Amino acid sequence: MPAPQLDITHRLEFSAAHRLHDPALGDEANRQLYGPCNNPNGHGHNYEVEVTVRGEVPPSGMIVDLNVLALIMDEEIFAQVDHKHLNCDVPFLEGLVTTAENLCVAFWQRVQPRILALGGCRLLRVRVYECKNSYADYHGPQL
Ligand code: NI
Repeated sequence: MPAPQLDITHRLEFSAAHRLHDPALGDEANRQLYGPCNNPNGHGHNYEVEVTVRGEVPPSGMIVDLNVLALIMDEEIFAQVDHKHLNCDVPFLEGLVTTAENLCVAFWQRVQPRILALGGCRLLRVRVYECKNSYADYHGPQL
């Protein structure tokens, strides 16, 4: 019988400020597009991020050591964004409109090489909650 395949997820929370603003558009167009989220001084969110990896269960019983997954997420995500202004204080978000969608893709790009290096599992999904009831999912580039 082949080894069963499962998905394992770790979640973290962080708090940060951001402003939805596209420098390619004028101020009025930004106000119309993003509404209150375009507030010049930004606003805050309590974000949650989930990283899910998929793999077959090896003899150790662990697809991934959850302590290792937590460490990767702490280093690549939490330490970079917690209590920061996402538009100004996070180099890897420079030039992006800081929506949950774009955060998902940026976080994927940071954690994916480290998950790959672990062996035995692959990154399946990055989920970003901008608030309790709204989230975005990214499953990686469609090849
Ligand atoms: Ni917002």
